[in-house]
Amino acid sequence: VKQEGRSALAFLVPAIREAEQQGLLRVRTPPGGERLLCFCSNDYLNLAGRNAPHAACGAGSSRLVSGDRPVHGQLEEAAAALVGQESSLVFTSGYAANVGALSALMGAGDLIVSDERNHASIIDGARLSRARVKVAPHLEAEAVEQALREGGYRRALVATESYFSMDAETPDLRALRAICNAHNAIFYVDEAHALGVLGPEGRGLCADAGVLPDVAVGTFGKAFGAAGAFVSGCAPLATWLWNRARSFVFSTGLAPMVAAAALSGIECAGREPVRRETARLRADQLRKRLEALGIRPRGSGHIIPWIIGDPSAAVEAAAALASRGIDVRAIRPPSVERGTARLRFTVGAAHTESDIDKAAEAVAWALGRGLSCAAG
Ligand SMILES: Cc1ncc(COP(=O)(O)O)c(C=O)c1O
Repeated sequence: VKQEGRSALAFLVPAIREAEQQGLLRVRTPPGGERLLCFCSNDYLNLAGRNAPHAACGAGSSRLVSGDRPVHGQLEEAAAALVGQESSLVFTSGYAANVGALSALMGAGDLIVSDERNHASIIDGARLSRARVKVAPHLEAEAVEQALREGGYRRALVATESYFSMDAETPDLRALRAICNAHNAIFYVDEAHALGVLGPEGRGLCADAGVLPDVAVGTFGKAFGAAGAFVSGCAPLATWLWNRARSFVFSTGLAPMVAAAALSGIECAGREPVRRETARLRADQLRKRLEALGIRPRGSGHIIPWIIGDPSAAVEAAAALASRGIDVRAIRPPSVERGTARLRFTVGAAHTESDIDKAAEAVAWALGRGLSCAAG
């Protein structure tokens, strides 16, 4: 993958140097462990290390204080390797990752161009940063270019998801990368719903497009079956976030037990490609079955949005399917645009062919009972 656009984060190097000269830079120190008697943990009842099979239960404090454990570093290495980046930093959730990273990177006088359907955590991070935010129409690379071309900012950042969780759609990542390069903008991609499932060896849709974002976000709470998230990029990015991402600095480190589970999730996903293949196969099967019933699910892949339109009809449809043993939830405004309430099927490796049959039969039954739906 050609490593372009890196210079957009070049401002971090002098900023880090300045913090260092002022004696304000926090760097990772090895945990005191057995060598030192810890007087800086918040593990007041000594419960964090109890009885967990692979690792301590709780970190006990922020990782900048005494909460850093080897498993955090191992997870960070594995996450960076997964997305082909130099380094990464682990957060306690995807929400914390986006809010922390965006507000640490951008500030007053900067511009964030954000796809209108970006996740709430991207929207909140952008707001918190105090940068000016321009919302670009969904998937419209030309509008992103236009927003950058207008200028009037110190630094710019383009934020998008790689696989939109409500629409199962993917932006033109190559076009966005090229636009960011042309305007020296930071290319920020959240791969929350793609990693583990989509792209070569489940390494996401940036890898699939042969694109390296400046900042890549991934979560461990979705395909990897644990909790937490990471932000990846060049080494100065991780140093900067370690110092400036407030949701990281001022929060107890990811529970080591959960970090171990996330690491094992990444390893397992890599070792057992059959999980990914099954998820894809079953998703294709369900999409085809729905299409055969006259439904046109949006997008592609393992998230299958069936646009119903009216919110009450979507709730009724979910209830009808539940009565046939299928649990799929109605997604309504404000989570999605008005008039696009939907059922959102998510298909995974646990589904068997007969599960797909059962889901398709339940949908056919609901349609037979006069369930009305938009064109799809
Ligand atoms: C694109 C995206 N980013 C971030 C998140 C938040 O992740 P977490 O659930 O780990 O907070 C989500 C959750 O659905 C998401 O869809």
